[in-house]
Amino acid sequence: MKVLQILKERYPDTYEKIIKGEVDKIKPKDEIEKMLLEIFFSNDRRSSKYIDEFFRLKCAKDIVEILGKNLSAKEITEAMSIRDRLRKLDIKDAIVFDFCAGKAIFSLLVAFTLPVRKVIAIDIKKPNIDFSGVRKFEYYEVNLFDKEVEEIIEKEEGRKIFVGIHCCKNLSIRVIELFNKYGDYLFLMPCCVLRTFKNDFWGYIDWVKFLVSKVKKGKVKVEWDWDVWSERNAIIQVMT
Ligand SMILES: C[S@@+](CC[C@H](N)C(=O)[O-])C[C@H]1O[C@@H](n2cnc3c(N)ncnc32)[C@H](O)[C@@H]1O
Repeated sequence: MKVLQILKERYPDTYEKIIKGEVDKIKPKDEIEKMLLEIFFSNDRRSSKYIDEFFRLKCAKDIVEILGKNLSAKEITEAMSIRDRLRKLDIKDAIVFDFCAGKAIFSLLVAFTLPVRKVIAIDIKKPNIDFSGVRKFEYYEVNLFDKEVEEIIEKEEGRKIFVGIHCCKNLSIRVIELFNKYGDYLFLMPCCVLRTFKNDFWGYIDWVKFLVSKVKKGKVKVEWDWDVWSERNAIIQVMT
């Protein structure tokens, strides 16, 4: 599997120990190695191209250093999925809004690897993480339903890319409302459905269709990304 290949390239001593079955003798040298080992030895050894891609990025080391234990492999796959879609666009000088950003893995990936003007993370609760050294990045602790969010958006000039990764329930509806009013591109990966929808795979499909019906402008495309380590893996994309 690919994670083993990365371990072989970057941590040959550890790779040797895995091959010889001397797993108890492995002493990870840094957070990246620790995480790769956790992925390799986890119960779920599905490979994902996003995990491989992430650990090949130069900034992986910085992101692991900033987020430490806050970084999860599942969230890497979600963030990489949207980041890969973004890089296919002409995004030079665009402003990216990461709504319900949480630990801001996606924001960091974009700030470190894409030529956007700025990334703005917004969440009702800013995590206790030191983002101070990150360029082109701002984090606002604001409720998405507050008027202040609109003020933050309005004061930015240029093309606006709206992203919402696993915005629960009506937060996804709110992101679409904001997009209808202010956005140029939308990338929304919804997660938890409203109570009126069934909480199973089919209910999730209905939820996605419902959210699509709320989009009032642009060309809509829905993709299902099976390299994302979550069953909530639909991506609603809108270009205006
Ligand atoms: C499932 S997490 C997703 C986090 C991140 N986007 C990710 O994929 O790793 C949902 C996030 O929504 C945030 N949230 C919940 N209610 C909110 C609100 N009213 N306004 C802004 N953010 C909110 C939570 O604090 C949490 O970080």
